[in-house]
Parts: sequence; C-alpha cells; structure tokens
Amino acid sequence: MKTQLSESEIAPLQSIEDWEDDLLTRYPEPKDKQAKAKDDYRNYHDSERVDTVREFYKLNHTYQTYDFVREKESEFLKFEKKEMPFWDAVNFLNTLIDDSDPDTNLDQLQHLLQTSEAIRADGHPDWFVLTGFIHDLGKVLCLFGEPQWAVVGDTFPVGCQHSDRIVYPEFFDQNPDSKDERYNTKYGVYSHQCGLNQVKMSWGHDEYLYQMVKDYMPEPALYMIRYHSFYAQHRENAYDHLLSDHDREMFKWVDKFNPYDLYSKVPVPPDSKALRPYYEDLVAKYLPATLKF
Ligand SMILES: [Fe+2]
Ligand SMILES: [Fe+2]
Repeated sequence: MKTQLSESEIAPLQSIEDWEDDLLTRYPEPKDKQAKAKDDYRNYHDSERVDTVREFYKLNHTYQTYDFVREKESEFLKFEKKEMPFWDAVNFLNTLIDDSDPDTNLDQLQHLLQTSEAIRADGHPDWFVLTGFIHDLGKVLCLFGEPQWAVVGDTFPVGCQHSDRIVYPEFFDQNPDSKDERYNTKYGVYSHQCGLNQVKMSWGHDEYLYQMVKDYMPEPALYMIRYHSFYAQHRENAYDHLLSDHDREMFKWVDKFNPYDLYSKVPVPPDSKALRPYYEDLVAKYLPATLKF
C-alpha cells in the first residue's frame, strides 16, 4: 500500500504535532487553569492547521481498515527493524524535529519530559512518571517511513461500526470496512463487553509502544500507553459496549493520564541534562537496556 501513496498522502501535516495542537482546540483545558497556560500553546497557524488536520483525518479514516491493522501488526510486531539502547531511541525520536515550528524548544524529548515532570510534581508513583516519559516513543514509526496517519491521530476500534463520536466521522464513508457487513455492525467481529484486549485498534504509536513494553510495566501504565489516543472512549464514552468491567476500572488511569499529556506545556522547558540521571535510574528500574523496534 505504501508505494501507492503520494508524498502529501504520507505527510498531510506540516508537523505531526499539529494533531496534538488540534486536540487542544477540541478539548481545551478546563477554565481555572486556562489563564496560566493559554499563551504557551502554539497558535501560529491555527487556520492553516484546520485544513491539514482535516486532510490528515480523511486519510486516516479512509485507510485504517481491519486488514490494514493486521498488515501493520505483522510488519512491526516482529520488532526486527532496529535494536537500540533506550537513550539512543530517545535521541532517534528527537531527530523528528518539527522544522515548521517557530518555537524550536519544543522537540519530542521536551514533550515527554514536560509530561513526566508534571506527573512527578503531583507525587504519583515512579512507574506513572516513567509512563509519561516514554508514552510517545512509538512515534519512531514516522522515522521508519510510515505515513503520519498510521502513527498519530485519535485511535478507534476496527472490525466494528465507527462511532459518530470519533472526530470527522463523515470521512469513514470512504473506508471499505464501512461497507463490509462483517465489520459495519455495532459489534462487528466482537461481542457485548468482550473486553478491549479482544479489540483491534487503528494502528499507531500507542499500540506499537504497548506491544514493546507490555512485559515490563504495571497494568495501569500499559492501559495509559495503549489507549491514550482513544479519545472516542476516554473523552466520549462511545464504546462502552465493548469494555469489560476491568477495562472500566483501568480507564480511570487513562483519564488521569490525559491532562498531563495535553496540558503540561510550560513556558520554561525542563532541563533535560539535569534530569537525565533521575530518568536513567527510572528507566533502568523497569526497562531492559536495549529496546527492540
Ligand atoms: Fe501520544
Ligand atoms: Fe503525548
């Protein structure tokens, strides 16, 4: 499939961060905190962004089918692309620098550190801090040449009807699964409250990282990693009929994580050099020395 895509179909967004910036317009920070944070968020190309984000979701909703996810799983879940010590992986991710961004401080490492430092400042357990620090590491998929819409963007279940509470639901008209009777009913290939573990999600950085670290982190951390872009559920509750009671319990953690991901941008970026020893110890406590991508 990759070979048939044009360059603008691979990278409709100027920057993959545009998706997250757009999330802030959909889910603005609650009022009491807004005044403090408002000026810190980028808004330099809001109007252009609306168009590119629309195009991005059009491609995402068109191409993310049940079969597409299966293809990506078999390609990437062998983890034989690259083996890297953890910090090399962070540096590798950081080569994904956003050239179009006038605010050059905001690289990938800064987003991770701002998220994890906000979690740490609130006194949460160390594995929660680590979750904040690694949650977007799966974005290295972009550096393997994957289209943006198969790395970032809201995720949603494939194999059953697309909820109209997913952003830009009208674009699912172009998705072949919406005309396939195996996949276009409320439950599709799933059953009532079967549990999310049975459910395939659209492919992206969440599932990829989850599969990479699933043997090393506590379960709440794994839910936060795996479902942090599943806005149709953690913000909209559109798929309650697929969640088990256990999922519901665990989604409390996903809910807890989301504001740190969205609203932790601070005017003075964390000092990554000074923080490195703390994070080195933390990473060593939970993760193997090298990660397989
Ligand atoms: Fe993310
Ligand atoms: Fe993030």
